Amino acid sequence: MTTAIIGTGGLGSVIARQLASGGETLRLSSADTEAARTLAAQIGSAAVVAADNRDALNGADAVVLALRFTVLKSVIDQIADLLSGQVVIVPSNPVTIDAHGNLARLLPEGQSSGKVVAGWLPAGAHLAMAFGTMSADLFESSANRSPEPAVLFYATDDDRAGEEAERLIRTAGFDPMKAGGIEQSGRLEVGGDLHDLVVGPAQARSLIGAA
Ligand SMILES: NC(=O)c1ccc[n+]([C@@H]2O[C@H](COP(=O)([O-])OP(=O)(O)OC[C@H]3O[C@@H](n4cnc5c(N)ncnc54)[C@H](OP(=O)(O)O)[C@@H]3O)[C@@H](O)[C@H]2O)c1
Repeated sequence: MTTAIIGTGGLGSVIARQLASGGETLRLSSADTEAARTLAAQIGSAAVVAADNRDALNGADAVVLALRFTVLKSVIDQIADLLSGQVVIVPSNPVTIDAHGNLARLLPEGQSSGKVVAGWLPAGAHLAMAFGTMSADLFESSANRSPEPAVLFYATDDDRAGEEAERLIRTAGFDPMKAGGIEQSGRLEVGGDLHDLVVGPAQARSLIGAA
């Protein structure tokens, strides 16, 4: 299966490496094509560099938008006509670093990124919020945990997106677990109670139910 990854920065590059090591074929695209080329060279024949963001979707079974929240809408607008019928996986947290170097939330308290991103997508896109639930370092070091795999939470309202998110999460070396519908994605974000946790399935289930 083939996944497009748009954005090959801190998180996108780790997602790409984990998916490739699980057998996924990748089409990479980034603002800095050189960064995408370097990553593709590290990964080897499983990854190709697309000509641009639109080309990345060519033949892809899903697209991961590994982009900062501040550029997400402009990239969605650029590729919107290609997203109807497509599975779209979004790891973005609605945060930025402010002028004082502090982490600042970009959305009003109580408004989840998933709800906002869903409103930016065209009708027919299949959205799941996933892969942004832990820091890139933790994500990489927790993959393929043994004997019990670590859980990666996701949120979606869409069955097809859920199936594809689960397949990709397994490919990346984790046990998938749905935290709830898209309105629950706030729990997965920075500051949410399910963010940056490395837990097995039993603990994950009790945490989901605890809210
Ligand atoms: N890093 C983490 O530990 C982590 C953990 C959980 C969730 N997340 C979320 O994941 C998202 C990405 O974070 P990050 O740390 O990977 O950020 P990042 O290192 O800044 O990477 C963002 C990537 O997007 C590319 N990009 C920017 N504009 C683009 C465009 N118009 N078209 C295509 N690519 C474009 C950037 O290219 P240039 O460098 O050339 O601008 C860069 O490669 C964020 O929303 C963040 O909240 C990150």
